[in-house]
Amino acid sequence: MRDVTGKVAFITGGGSGLGFGMAQAFCAAGMKVVIADIRQDHLDQALEHFARIGKPRSVHPIRVDVTDRKAMAEAADETESVFGRVHLVCNNAGINLFNDIAAATYDDWDWVLGVNLGGVVNGVHTFIPRLRKHGEGGHIVNTASMASFISGPNAGIYTCAKFAVRGLSEALRFSVAPLGINVSVVCPGLVDSAIYESDKVRPSHLASTSGPMDTQFMTRLAELHHRAGMTPLEAGEKVLRGILRNDFYIFTHPEFKEELREIFDEALAALPTETPPKERLAFEDHRRALKMQARATWKNY
Ligand SMILES: NC(=O)c1ccc[n+]([C@@H]2O[C@H](COP(=O)([O-])OP(=O)(O)OC[C@H]3O[C@@H](n4cnc5c(N)ncnc54)[C@H](O)[C@@H]3O)[C@@H](O)[C@H]2O)c1
Repeated sequence: MRDVTGKVAFITGGGSGLGFGMAQAFCAAGMKVVIADIRQDHLDQALEHFARIGKPRSVHPIRVDVTDRKAMAEAADETESVFGRVHLVCNNAGINLFNDIAAATYDDWDWVLGVNLGGVVNGVHTFIPRLRKHGEGGHIVNTASMASFISGPNAGIYTCAKFAVRGLSEALRFSVAPLGINVSVVCPGLVDSAIYESDKVRPSHLASTSGPMDTQFMTRLAELHHRAGMTPLEAGEKVLRGILRNDFYIFTHPEFKEELREIFDEALAALPTETPPKERLAFEDHRRALKMQARATWKNY
């Protein structure tokens, strides 16, 4: 999107952290913003902020759980009736669970994948037909993480969901580019947020978990986010810049260059070295040519 002024954004998880940072950046750029969040206290805090800076009418709060498909459709209807057509959809709501993936329960899997991946699926499914219908173009921004490239001993289900959000976003941009809809994936590092409080929004029907939470670790995690995390506003402004430039990857943190290089170097070094048969090479060349042809037609609307 070259110009966001007067356009409407819908941000899930918009009441806190990165989503709130995006809401601030979008509002400052003249957008009307729906802040959709499961936590009423986060919605209230966000609204207080916008009232304080004299922009109460630029934002509209909707309490919604992104895993509830019917509620997401109702939130989209409410957005259109309050602000009109939506142009920018940020599927950002996320939670984290710091446990050992090998010991995880089905409830752990269902909750973490349900919000972090299912929430993005539901946002895409809810809004693509609406963007398509108004035909004015639009932009979908999915929040992944540096954990969509980098894994470690902690937060394995989260990592799994974030890799999937990156894959979903890459595939989606091919599907929707011909409709005038662009796609970005946001991959932040540490942001000052309340994600360490995720347990507060864990639903009771998915409560069975592998072990008690390590409260000391969670306290250190909270302290780390506040002390070392990027401010949500800085991260939100970088997201806005990426949207205006139509970047597919929106990286907010510069400190991952070497680790990304290590990951890709390891993958490249693991590729077999023999010459592939001609037929297979021709197939892959053809596939890549089609992909490049499609990409050459993409525009920033
Ligand atoms: N904080 C970080 O260091 C960091 C790093 C990389 C990626 N991220 C990603 O950024 C996104 C935003 O997280 P954050 O760090 O700003 O945390 P946050 O907790 O401050 O904000 C997330 C918001 O999502 C809401 N939410 C949670 N479950 C929901 C649900 N089912 N339906 C609707 N809303 C729900 C929460 O109430 C909260 O307001 C997440 O996708 C997260 O994975 C965060």
